[in-house]
Amino acid sequence: MGEKARERAGGKAGTPAEAPTRREFLVGVSAAPVLACAASSEISGGSMPRRPVAIASANGLRATAKAIELVRSGHDPLDAAIAGVNIVEGDPNDISVGYGGLPNEDGVVELDAAVMHGPTHRCGAVAALRGIKYPSKVAKLVMERTDHVLLVGEGAQRFAVAHGFPIENLLTERARKIWLHWKETRSAIDDWLPPPPKEVDPEVRRFFGERVTGTIHCSVLDTKGDLAAVTTTSGLAFKIPGRVGDSPIIGAGLYVDNDIGAAGSTGRGEANLANCSCAMIVEWMGRGMHPMEACLEMLRRVAKHTKEKRLLRPDGRPNFQLVFYAVNKNGEYGAASMWKGRKFAVHDGSSNRLEDCAYLFE
Ligand code: GLY
Repeated sequence: MGEKARERAGGKAGTPAEAPTRREFLVGVSAAPVLACAASSEISGGSMPRRPVAIASANGLRATAKAIELVRSGHDPLDAAIAGVNIVEGDPNDISVGYGGLPNEDGVVELDAAVMHGPTHRCGAVAALRGIKYPSKVAKLVMERTDHVLLVGEGAQRFAVAHGFPIENLLTERARKIWLHWKETRSAIDDWLPPPPKEVDPEVRRFFGERVTGTIHCSVLDTKGDLAAVTTTSGLAFKIPGRVGDSPIIGAGLYVDNDIGAAGSTGRGEANLANCSCAMIVEWMGRGMHPMEACLEMLRRVAKHTKEKRLLRPDGRPNFQLVFYAVNKNGEYGAASMWKGRKFAVHDGSSNRLEDCAYLFE
């Protein structure tokens, strides 16, 4: 890495006039415990292998393990990240991603995914894709086999079929029952009648505390210092058909600059989309901010920009969850959530584990 790139990657970069200094920043977030730590590279510089890092949302522990296994055996970091999230996309028990994901308001599963490859700065994405189990693989094909970045809806499905993907029913029985309960209980002035309360499956009832917006993000730094990222989701449960969240939008759901680092997000996509968050996080890392600090600073900005009363609690704080994950070229990493209580998955080259996210509000 050249001197300039090394500076951008965090070691001794200067601080831009418009970004808070590290000192100002830490004062501003003093309520948030510094829980995420740096992973050190075994060796930095030259062509010696470095310690790889994979960071993911809390549902991505199997993804980080797989990604590190693959980069260690010489695979490209994007292939490693995608193979990691494919485990979750294909898992019917994760109701926020791929097969088994909760459907839109019509009961149809619609998936969004994006990939970004640091060494080539190429990217690809699909949105509102129906019937295809592994949208991250299709996103990679958009990147590699088209001149486009984003395909949506029917066009995305036809593209996937052209590449040999089968069209499958992605709605599991569990997801169908949750959706049906939502449909039968949403209004007293329609013709859908819910079952007697005692007949409601407790498994189904469990999902009606708050709106499900799960997703999986995974960013990978390989042993050569190259970066890649993927974000994949079934989006907001019971969304209006055609709704696209942040996950497939480059710069929002994920972003990679191979000289600096990678970032991704999960949580309320609309809040992220309105702030281009992951591009900002990577930019701030490039100006010297630690990944965790950059994630927290982005949450502060999202909170400041949230002005609609329906999205605010009585104390003026956002009433939604949003989580950012980031890793820089040096292998330092961090994650932060709007509200306390979230974890993230990380493999830092020595162990694979869940860590607590830093947070903005208790
Ligand atoms: N962050 C996932 C979504 O809002 O769709």
